[in-house]
Amino acid sequence: MTNRVALVTGGNGGIGTEICKQLAAAGYRVVTTCVDAERENIAGWQKELADAGTQVDWVECNVADFDACATMAAQVTEKVGPVEVLVNAAGITRDAFAHKMARENWDAVIRTNLDSVFNVTRQFVEGMRERGFGRIVNIASVNGQTGQFGQSNYSAAKAGMHGFSMALAKEGARKGITANTISPGYIETEMTAAIPEDVRNGIVAQVPAGRMGRPDEIARTVVFLAADDAEYINGANIPVNGGLFTSF
Ligand code: CAA
Repeated sequence: MTNRVALVTGGNGGIGTEICKQLAAAGYRVVTTCVDAERENIAGWQKELADAGTQVDWVECNVADFDACATMAAQVTEKVGPVEVLVNAAGITRDAFAHKMARENWDAVIRTNLDSVFNVTRQFVEGMRERGFGRIVNIASVNGQTGQFGQSNYSAAKAGMHGFSMALAKEGARKGITANTISPGYIETEMTAAIPEDVRNGIVAQVPAGRMGRPDEIARTVVFLAADDAEYINGANIPVNGGLFTSF
C-alpha cells in the first residue's frame, strides 16, 4: 500500500472512474478534475463511490485552459499535498470525416485531449523533479496508433500525447520521473456507446479477443505504471486492446 497523492483528470469518466477506484484501493489519495461540477453531478458520483468504500476528492477545472490548471494545481496541493502521480485521462470526441470537420471540432479535441496534457503536467512536473519522484500516465488510444475514420482530430491528439510522453520520459528519467502512455482499444464506455451500432459491430468483429475491453482493464495498467518499482518502464506506449493492434 502507498499513501501517495494521485490526480486523475477526467476521473469521473468511463475509464477515469475505474482508475480512481483502483488507485484508491491501492492506497493513493485520489483527486479528480471535472469541468462543471453541477452538470456532471460530481457530488452524486463522489457519494456513489464513497458508499462503495472509495474516497475521492474533486476539483473543478477545464483542463483545456492553462490558467485554470494553474489555479487547480494550487487548490489540489493545498488540499492534499503535492501530486506524485498524474493520470491525464480527460478526453472528448467530435467525430467527422476531415473533409466535413468544422474548425471548432478540430480545436475542441486538440485543446481538450492534447493541450490539456501540457497544461496540467506543466503545473506538477517541476515539483516532481525537485522531490525526485513522479509518475505520469497519459491515456491515449489505439486510434492514435492506427488512425480511424472520422477521427483526424482525435487520432492526431492521441498520437501527440505519446510524443509528449516520450520527450518527458527523457527529461525526467534521472529525476525519478516516468512518463508513459496507455493506448486503450475499444472500451465499454459512453464514448464507444455513441458509435453508430453497425460501425461498432464491425469494429468489435475485428478485435481478436472477440469483445470490447472493460475500464478496469485500463485501470489495472495505470496502477502498474504508477508503482514506485515501475521506474524502469519509461516512454512506453502500452496497448490494451485485445490484440486489435500489435506492433513489433
Ligand atoms: N470502419 C469502416 N468504415 C467506416 C468506419 C469504420 N470505422 N466509419 C465509417 N465508415 C464508412 C461507413 O460505413 C460509410 O461507408 P459507405 O459509404 O460505404 O456506406 C462511410 O464510411 C461513410 O460513413 P457515414 O455514412 O457514417 O458518414 P458520416 O459522414 O455520416 O459519418 C463518421 C462518418 C463520423 C466517421 C461516422 O461513421 C462515425 O461516427 N464512425 C465511427 C467513428 C469511430 O470509430 N469513432 C470512435 C469513437 S470511440 C473512441 O474514440 C474511443 C477510442 O479511443 C477507441
